[in-house]
Amino acid sequence: MKKDLLSISDLSKEEIIALINRAIEIKSKGRNIKRSLEGYTLGLIFEKASTRTRVSFEVAMFRLGGQTIFLNRADTQLSRDENIHDTAKVLSRYLDAVAIRTYSQKLIEDMARFADIPVINALSDLCHPCQVLSDLMTVKEKKGTVEKIRIAWIGDGNNVANSWIHAARILGFELVIASPPGYKPLPEALEGSGDNIKVVDDPYEAVKGSSVINTDVWVSMGQEKERAKRVSDFKGYQLDASLIAAANKDVVVMHCLPAHRGEEITGEVLDGSKSIVFDQAENKLHLHQALLEKLILTTL
Ligand code: CP
Ligand code: NVA
Repeated sequence: MKKDLLSISDLSKEEIIALINRAIEIKSKGRNIKRSLEGYTLGLIFEKASTRTRVSFEVAMFRLGGQTIFLNRADTQLSRDENIHDTAKVLSRYLDAVAIRTYSQKLIEDMARFADIPVINALSDLCHPCQVLSDLMTVKEKKGTVEKIRIAWIGDGNNVANSWIHAARILGFELVIASPPGYKPLPEALEGSGDNIKVVDDPYEAVKGSSVINTDVWVSMGQEKERAKRVSDFKGYQLDASLIAAANKDVVVMHCLPAHRGEEITGEVLDGSKSIVFDQAENKLHLHQALLEKLILTTL
């Protein structure tokens, strides 16, 4: 039976750890990696902009000997109301896996329901599982653990934050989210969470005792019309030197990128010695290779 990645919650703790370990192994091999996906094709259906996710999936597939087909959703018959059932069935006859970046999580879930090939969520309004998997790999590299650590999330309780919540629920690390009123993670995302996940108002309370501080843009894709209000509502939630100084001495700063210097993070912090944002970006390439191998080559 095929396996999809629609949310981090689709994975067990053992599967997440195995993916991270395999990605670290793949990284150490660089280009000397077995062409395990020769003859296989990954489709990429994107309805939102992307630099990192698109390029890292394309290069990941290439390094493993396979190929990709990039489809702007607007150029497909999906944009002319061909239904998701027929699209999924047809693509399953050509492709070996498909990654989708879109607004609606339901569309990705419907695609997975009807497709006979693995479906990967490459970001929806609800979550960004691929991002947090590679971020966990980066945490493991820098801190040696993805279980016994306190991670702070400062800012919007958005799609990336939701995937961090899913990961904390499975791995058990401490996650403290500081968001302004009106921007806290949805109750559905927090449902079933244990004591290791806390939501607070004060960013200083969140970073105290944390070894990782994470943030993301205040205006996600699709929210552009809310820009002025959001920029005003998020005042006080910027990762600046004073907030970073309130965390553990060994703290690292993460941001999935793209960043808006001067909004959610200062240029000084983003480019500073504690920032690991470009390692994070690189690790998407390695984690995606591990993920593609797992989903395409292994059956349940
Ligand atoms: N972090 C991330 O998903 O970046 P892109 O939007 O550039 O793919
Ligand atoms: N929250 C951001 C993440 C971009 C990678 C967005 O959805 O636009």
